[in-house]
Amino acid sequence: MRSSLNINVNGLLLLLCGVNLAGTLGYKPVIIVHGLFDGPKQFLMMSRLIQEAHPGTNVSVIDLYDNMASLKPLWVQVQGFKELLYPIMQEAENGIHLICFSQGGLICRGLLSTLPDHNVQSFISLSSPQAGQYGDTDILKMFFPHYLKARVFHVCYSSVGQKWSICNFWNDPHQRERFLKSSNYLALLNGERPHREMTEWRKNFLRINKLVLIGGPDDGVITPWESSHFGFYDINETIVEMKNQEWYGRDSFGLKTLHARGDLAVYVLSGVKHGYWHSNETVFRGCIEEWLT
Ligand SMILES: *[C@@H]1O[C@H](CO)[C@@H](O)[C@H](O)[C@H]1NC(C)=O
Ligand SMILES: *[C@@H]1O[C@H](CO)[C@@H](O)[C@H](O)[C@H]1NC(C)=O
Ligand SMILES: *[C@@H]1O[C@H](CO)[C@@H](O)[C@H](O)[C@H]1NC(C)=O
Repeated sequence: MRSSLNINVNGLLLLLCGVNLAGTLGYKPVIIVHGLFDGPKQFLMMSRLIQEAHPGTNVSVIDLYDNMASLKPLWVQVQGFKELLYPIMQEAENGIHLICFSQGGLICRGLLSTLPDHNVQSFISLSSPQAGQYGDTDILKMFFPHYLKARVFHVCYSSVGQKWSICNFWNDPHQRERFLKSSNYLALLNGERPHREMTEWRKNFLRINKLVLIGGPDDGVITPWESSHFGFYDINETIVEMKNQEWYGRDSFGLKTLHARGDLAVYVLSGVKHGYWHSNETVFRGCIEEWLT
């Protein structure tokens, strides 16, 4: 598949990871940011696995905008998470690691782009629709029971729609102009709609040392699933992979630079449904050393 990227599939992943590089300096705190309609409860297993692999690590799942509150506009959530995370960062001399699930991965990007002195080392994006979402999943049907995905843009690309988190990353490939004009979040983060802060945001984002993208074809919610690796549909709903995205070519938010620096790792894992990423031991077990040192 995408051979020029560092892709590890299933068993191979376990072979490549698992070399214990942890120093004697102690482990950096790990902060977990949850996704849509969930909260800290869902991450107990992941926290336990990290603590087993790296005893003494302070793992915190941020208890904010849980469940229904996760529908709040993403910029509002970014601000809230920032207020809780910033003091933790300031306490952590050697920096922290961020694991961000699903919608949380977009919140983390917002945070990393707009916080000029963050000290996040690894940013683990766990099945997160980084290039947007365009799919009739159950979640969508819950909110727009009478809408087909092709009509959701009527709601989402309006000032009212943009007050909901899911509309902030709704990316209808057949409505490019409306997306570019109305998206107050994803189009700005990706630099698809140019803005004054772009250079600054890119510089902030590039303070991370490692970006790990994890996702897979059996996810069932993230649509297209390639969005977890920055791939997305073109107007014909054919996948355009990350490297061929216009904003990658322009390096508008630093992705190309991260890749060139060797600081981007992409994992494609099959057999994992969306709700199981954080409870699947195989996904995490061998890789904690690789990701969280
Ligand atoms: C772990 O981190 C949290 C903040 O995320 C802090 O409140 C707590 O005191 C820390 N615990 C230890 C044992 O350092
Ligand atoms: C989409 O499909 C149409 C019809 O097959 C084709 O003419 C057009 O070039 C395609 N566009 C892209 C971006 O691939
Ligand atoms: C856990 O992950 C492995 C590796 O990707 C996968 O084969 C397996 O089906 C997953 N199990 C569940 C319950 O998600």
